[in-house]
Amino acid sequence: MPPIFPETVLRTDRLLLRPFTAEDVEDTRAACSDELTQQWLPLPRPYSTEHAASWCTDVSHRLRTSGDGVHFAITDLGSGRLLGTVGLKKTDWPARVSEVGYWSAPWARGRGVMTEATRTLGEWLLGEQGFQRLQLFAATGNTASRRVAEKAGFHKEGVLRNAGHVHDGRVDLVVFSLVPDDLAGSREAEPEPLGIPVTDAERGGAR
Ligand SMILES: CC(C)(COP(=O)(O)OP(=O)(O)OC[C@H]1O[C@@H](n2cnc3c(N)ncnc32)[C@H](O)[C@@H]1OP(=O)(O)O)[C@@H](O)C(=O)NCCC(=O)NCCS
Repeated sequence: MPPIFPETVLRTDRLLLRPFTAEDVEDTRAACSDELTQQWLPLPRPYSTEHAASWCTDVSHRLRTSGDGVHFAITDLGSGRLLGTVGLKKTDWPARVSEVGYWSAPWARGRGVMTEATRTLGEWLLGEQGFQRLQLFAATGNTASRRVAEKAGFHKEGVLRNAGHVHDGRVDLVVFSLVPDDLAGSREAEPEPLGIPVTDAERGGAR
């Protein structure tokens, strides 16, 4: 049996990172059907409720118990609403190296959520879990993802030519890394409270 990450809950002042549940299916379907998510991630197209249910109740959990990584639902600590996902994949246990991946829901973008979640996951991996390197790959054209990497304290290492694929074809990937020495660096300024709406009417309006 390969090593596996423990089932874990991580908290910040604004966010709760926890395993996916059946409660997350509808918001996951909406977020993974979103145009920007579909532009940069090679997810099924169209992305159905069945795809979302499989991810939330089965696949995301099996990827942990197989040793590949661990996947978190990022939720608003105040309202409980799903804001996105951040996870580890392709973990190389002997080398103590893993790779981070993420999407944020359209209703949560531009508020520093993914920067905060990625930094928190990096601190857990390189601290408590004793890992030596967290890698992040972003398409050269994916400005928001590159910005998340920089703001979370990752270092840009270079460009991997023709290394990725999205629905529109091949892409070059910028490779970033976070290593234990980087964690001495301070976070950016304290983020603003989220104020994510929770009522059905508000939710409908946000999509
Ligand atoms: C990448 C993504 C996760 C960022 O999530 P987020 O919660 O909005 O991230 P943050 O708010 O922490 O930071 C986003 C940063 O990108 C910036 N940004 C977003 N779109 C931008 C654009 N088109 N041009 C320039 N900057 C942009 C934001 O302004 C912000 O930077 P700032 O704080 O300096 O202003 C989100 O855009 C997403 O889900 N994209 C689709 C899926 C995806 O690309 N996943 C990653 C694959 S590698």
